[in-house]
Amino acid sequence: MNLNYNNLLSALSLALDVQEYKNMGHARRVAYISLRISEMLNLNEEESKKVYYSAFLHDIGKGDIYEDFDTDEWWKHSERGSEIVKKLPFGENFSDIIRYHHENYDGSGHFKLNGDSIPLGAQIVFISDQFDIRYTSLAGKESEYSIRNNIKEYIKSGAGKTFNPVIANALLDLTRQEKFWLDYKFFDIKTILKRIEPKDMVSIGINELEDIAETFAQIIDNRSRFTYNHSRGISNLAYNMAKVIGYDEEVTRKIKIAGLLHDLGKLAIPNSILDKPDKLTEEEFMVIKSHTYYTKEILKEIGGIDDIAEWAANHHEKLDGSGYPEGLKGDEIGEIDRHVAVCDMYQALTEDRPYRKGLEPKQAIDIIAKSVKDNKVSEESLEILKEVVL
Ligand SMILES: [Fe+2]
Ligand SMILES: [Fe+2]
Ligand SMILES: [Fe+2]
Repeated sequence: MNLNYNNLLSALSLALDVQEYKNMGHARRVAYISLRISEMLNLNEEESKKVYYSAFLHDIGKGDIYEDFDTDEWWKHSERGSEIVKKLPFGENFSDIIRYHHENYDGSGHFKLNGDSIPLGAQIVFISDQFDIRYTSLAGKESEYSIRNNIKEYIKSGAGKTFNPVIANALLDLTRQEKFWLDYKFFDIKTILKRIEPKDMVSIGINELEDIAETFAQIIDNRSRFTYNHSRGISNLAYNMAKVIGYDEEVTRKIKIAGLLHDLGKLAIPNSILDKPDKLTEEEFMVIKSHTYYTKEILKEIGGIDDIAEWAANHHEKLDGSGYPEGLKGDEIGEIDRHVAVCDMYQALTEDRPYRKGLEPKQAIDIIAKSVKDNKVSEESLEILKEVVL
């Protein structure tokens, strides 16, 4: 396994574009602006890489505080984010950029750093982030022409106060190019990033992928106290099933990773739905159903791990075709997908939910057995699961 780190972070950034994906593409647009500024400032390859990676992950600390980041402590996401990325391969190198990506140039920010004491990368990501937040908040409400003027004014007036004047000027220079705006707004910004991104790539093997998956699993599980161990629990169950079956080492480890990432798309589901004590409305259930769709799309965007993407994302498909999001049937659901599906059921049933306590292993198995009878989940998978848990 040899994955491209750029692609990996770019894809995972989609999972971090929180708020029901209302701001889908935010991290990628911030990466675009940041890269263009880095080029204007003649940053070297190494520095540009750090800026690029941190642009994708700058809001990683928001992943598990979905609805609270407008409070007085909103800045905490930058501190948390900087700690989280330290656990990623190469992450130590850009953790500081994330920590200070909301510092004001004049020292009035949370950490009270000012001027050159704020890492340059952090100042670049900051202005790019504010640019995109402003643009998206005005989009559709004002004409394109007036939005552009509004943003230029905003950058000008912030120069020397909120923003580093040199960086602000570089960005203002960029805004004089038509191409800059058209690239920024292009429907497929990924292809544009591909053309301009730093080429000397960090490459990722299975060990690093596992570290990344662990980190994201933790973010996903932390979203709700009811799921504090959900992804890791499933991952363990699936890993143990793979051992019982006797899959080779590589497949077994990939299954573990699939378990860790199976609910990746849940990062965009609001806590009000995840933690709702009452029955979900049709509308809310529709939102829930999108999570495995996003899990699969995001994992496939990484490139090179389509097997993991399938195993991870088909866990709500049912043998009789009544599952979601694709309504796959019978043989269309692979052997490993079926194993992961029973692990997901078992793990969910044995965890507390807002509306009930976690069930005992035997009770959970009985419920899954009923699903086997109804032709929803695989009998063979259930038998192997029993060997693992009973
Ligand atoms: Fe932020
Ligand atoms: Fe942001
Ligand atoms: Fe799920």
